[in-house]
Amino acid sequence: MSTTESGEESGVIRSVSRAGRSFPPPPAFAQKARLRDPAEYERLYRRSVDDPNGFWGDMAKSELAWTKPWTTVLSGEVPWVRWFDGGELNLSANCLDRHLATRGSKPAIIWEGEPGEERILTYAQLHAEVCQFAAVLKNLGVARGERVAIYMPMIPEAAVAMLACARIGAPHTVVFGGFSAEALRDRINDCEAKVCITSDGSYRRGKVIPLKANVDQALAHTPSVHSCVVVRRTGNEVTMKAGRDKWWHDVMEGQPTSTPAESLPAEHPLFILYTSGTTGKPKGIVHSTGGYLLGAHLTTKYIFDINDDDLYWCTADIGWVTGHSYVLYGPLSNGATTLMYEGAPDFPDKDRFWSIIARRKVTTFYTAPTAIRAFVRWGNEFPEKHDLSSLRLLGSVGEPINPEAWMWYHELVGRGRCPIVDTWWQTETGSIMLSPLPGITASKPGSCSIPFFGVVPEVVKRDGTKCGANEGGFLILRKPWPSMLRGIHGDPERYVKQYWSEIKGVYFTGDGSRCDEDNYFWVMGRVDDVLNVAGHRLGTAEIESALVSCPGVAEAAVVGPPHALKGQGICCFVTLKMGVVGNDAFKKQLSDHVVKEIGALARPDDIRFTDALPKTRSGKIMRRLLKEIATSGEAKGDTTTLEDLGVLSRLSAVREDEE
Ligand code: WTA
Repeated sequence: MSTTESGEESGVIRSVSRAGRSFPPPPAFAQKARLRDPAEYERLYRRSVDDPNGFWGDMAKSELAWTKPWTTVLSGEVPWVRWFDGGELNLSANCLDRHLATRGSKPAIIWEGEPGEERILTYAQLHAEVCQFAAVLKNLGVARGERVAIYMPMIPEAAVAMLACARIGAPHTVVFGGFSAEALRDRINDCEAKVCITSDGSYRRGKVIPLKANVDQALAHTPSVHSCVVVRRTGNEVTMKAGRDKWWHDVMEGQPTSTPAESLPAEHPLFILYTSGTTGKPKGIVHSTGGYLLGAHLTTKYIFDINDDDLYWCTADIGWVTGHSYVLYGPLSNGATTLMYEGAPDFPDKDRFWSIIARRKVTTFYTAPTAIRAFVRWGNEFPEKHDLSSLRLLGSVGEPINPEAWMWYHELVGRGRCPIVDTWWQTETGSIMLSPLPGITASKPGSCSIPFFGVVPEVVKRDGTKCGANEGGFLILRKPWPSMLRGIHGDPERYVKQYWSEIKGVYFTGDGSRCDEDNYFWVMGRVDDVLNVAGHRLGTAEIESALVSCPGVAEAAVVGPPHALKGQGICCFVTLKMGVVGNDAFKKQLSDHVVKEIGALARPDDIRFTDALPKTRSGKIMRRLLKEIATSGEAKGDTTTLEDLGVLSRLSAVREDEE
């Protein structure tokens, strides 16, 4: 990982102290909160780090339903640890079966389609559908441990499919519906999925996105997939390949509604979720069953302060880890009602989210800073015209939230009454690691504040020594936690190298942070070559390899200058082969090519042709300089190792030429 090149030099971890405002929990909220006594948090936290076996053992026993007790709570040494070894459980039984007696008729999922339809699935109904689809998967020959790919819109069947996989012990790999056919193909091939579940299409701003057509393209090159189940959602025409493709409604017909939940070892892999890293190849992050569920369950309970009468809404797509842990598994494990919305926030108008909150009386709302910045830009009149008084708690995730956006969220959405939990975590951590506890912690806008139980974060220098208060450094986690990743699918070396070798024996997050004088953490962004574009992680290397695979391109370097809405934009510096003309038509072609290779989320904001890229004497591209150029039009930083200074002035000139 080129932390020195792109992290330290980019200024990400340079930090200054800022005295800011602090917002104690609103008294009306705190009075009713599950955790409201700071001494209680202190006591629980201390025990969780001083006696992790005792703490997690007690929590696992009281919070989850096990079919077989474990023999050890934590065993092994990092990076290869096991939690609850010997124990067995089933995640779908924890999310469904155990609630049937007390919550059978309570809505588990309230779903709203983009065109406006509604579906409500009670715990009993969801359980029945999951059992049926689990039987379908078995009929298709899916055995315990075999992978199932899910490429679906935000429809209840996506949740059913995930829970059914968990029921029979088939790890799912959900691929965000915005990824391209190529990206889907690569992920399926990496984990050798046997079955793919999709829908004919999905709705986005009134238009139909043809998901099945992408699947058809992908499955032409995925030898492991023998079956594809297709949900009819949009009714658009699709090709059904005989022998391989089956309609969901056909295969579900007549299936039993009581498929038993398999008793699975706590360490049984629950899912593989691909996320971008510093190479061109995304990493398949592997999560366990027992430890993962405990993390998702407890954080939902304490950080979202979830209660039986809450209507909880997390706007993430199930294709991301937030969708796994906080649309589905965390809320359902707690017996809560989770809201799923299929479509865009600005369809049919820019108040769709506020209209949903007002109509359905949402109490808990969890979204991303990039969305909040869009709301700010759209104007106050949209939230103002709705009654948002049902809300009691707000959350934010995915990137640092700028204090201005925090204040807007607090005032316009929370109307000053709702605590905001700014939650820091990663695909790899499985559940929230840093966050205020809403009934206890005074929030500072922009800070994800304090560690959750069992989490021991620290901001350190390259040599692993602790930074002083407000000094910027690398964010690490010193102790293993139950919902931590168990590896990278098929690549144990990369797992060890990426996460456990930068600083020996501790988990390296890849984020820069500072910790202030009150021990509040302020995460500042990635220190590696990973961009955070609209809350989505994208590896610069992935975009670069897409660019370079386009005929005519010699070399490419991608950087992420600040972007008003997306947090970071995608700026590509491209050198062309001799004789190739860099004009607007070619820019468009390149941009379309990146979208084809990765998906629309990776569409470049800016492509600049240049005759050379600035490199160090050892041949490394100096992204820091490129980022400066992309941000301010010129590079002022240290250029002592730059090989050809002429390149720089030519690059700086590119922008002016264009304007
Ligand atoms: C960033 C999303 C600041 C961070 C759950 C992390 C954040 C990456 C926050 C993980 C936050 C997430 N404040 N930065 N509250 N939450 N990040 O894997 O850079 O999609 O490493 O998981 O998002 O992104 P991922």
